[in-house]
Amino acid sequence: MSHASPFLEVERLTKHFGGLTAVNSVTFQVARGQMVGLIGPNGAGKTTLLRLITRILKADSGKVRFKGRDITRAKPWDVVNMGIAGTFQVTRPFRRLPIIANVMVACLSPRAMKKGEWVKTIDARAMDALEFVGISDLAREPASCLSHGDLRRLEIARAIATDPELLLLDEPFSGLNPAETELLAKSIRRLHKGGRFGRLHSEGPAMIIIEHKLAELMKIVDRVIVLDFGELIADGSPDEIVKNERVIEACIGKGVT
Ligand SMILES: Nc1ncnc2c1ncn2[C@@H]1O[C@H](COP(=O)(O)OP(=O)(O)OP(=O)(O)O)[C@@H](O)[C@H]1O
Ligand SMILES: [Mg+2]
Repeated sequence: MSHASPFLEVERLTKHFGGLTAVNSVTFQVARGQMVGLIGPNGAGKTTLLRLITRILKADSGKVRFKGRDITRAKPWDVVNMGIAGTFQVTRPFRRLPIIANVMVACLSPRAMKKGEWVKTIDARAMDALEFVGISDLAREPASCLSHGDLRRLEIARAIATDPELLLLDEPFSGLNPAETELLAKSIRRLHKGGRFGRLHSEGPAMIIIEHKLAELMKIVDRVIVLDFGELIADGSPDEIVKNERVIEACIGKGVT
């Protein structure tokens, strides 16, 4: 790994679904530890772009490099082991397993094991992740008892339990009330600072966060990229983005707030 190589490089990444180009030659880079918002109208290709990075979906063309390594053809589990974790727009827990067990499964990834995390410590590590997102009091309940908001928190606990260096969050605030949103935003900021969960890395993970709640998003991120019809139409600071004519027309004018 060369020190000159950027942390995450996405180069002319393209994905078609039949005749539809969901992601169209998208190029951007993310620096280590950077907080990036990903916005755009419904159907713009945001979720598809994150799924291409985590390799849940195969790209038709273009490249993804992570810490200098080409991961364009890597397996999804290899990508997790390299330090990329994501949450999904639709949550799918093991509903009949206790909440803590749902997180312990993520702790069993070779990435966590390689770092000397053995079975005895997995329970504690999973509990840490649950405490971090604020649902540790429910740890022994089945996942089926969780509210929509708490399911989103469980997803984040599972992702951070793999000790990611790059965390991809797909609409973490969707379905949360303002108080829950504020609570989760605080956790995300704390995670970014390294804080308690920065045990294995001195700094918190870089993040790409898809979110329609722009006011909340802008308080967390230091950069925003904008997709419209699969194309990257803007990339800048939150201040620049809210003033960008093309962005206003594509998103804000269409009621994305
Ligand atoms: N598996 C799939 N098969 C066919 N078409 C798909 C598939 N996944 C996404 N699409 C289409 O690709 C386009 C981009 O979808 P995507 O889910 O990435 O958008 P999005 O920006 O995440 O939207 P939203 O804000 O509504 O979540 C949409 O037109 C969608 O219908
Ligand atoms: Mg989406």
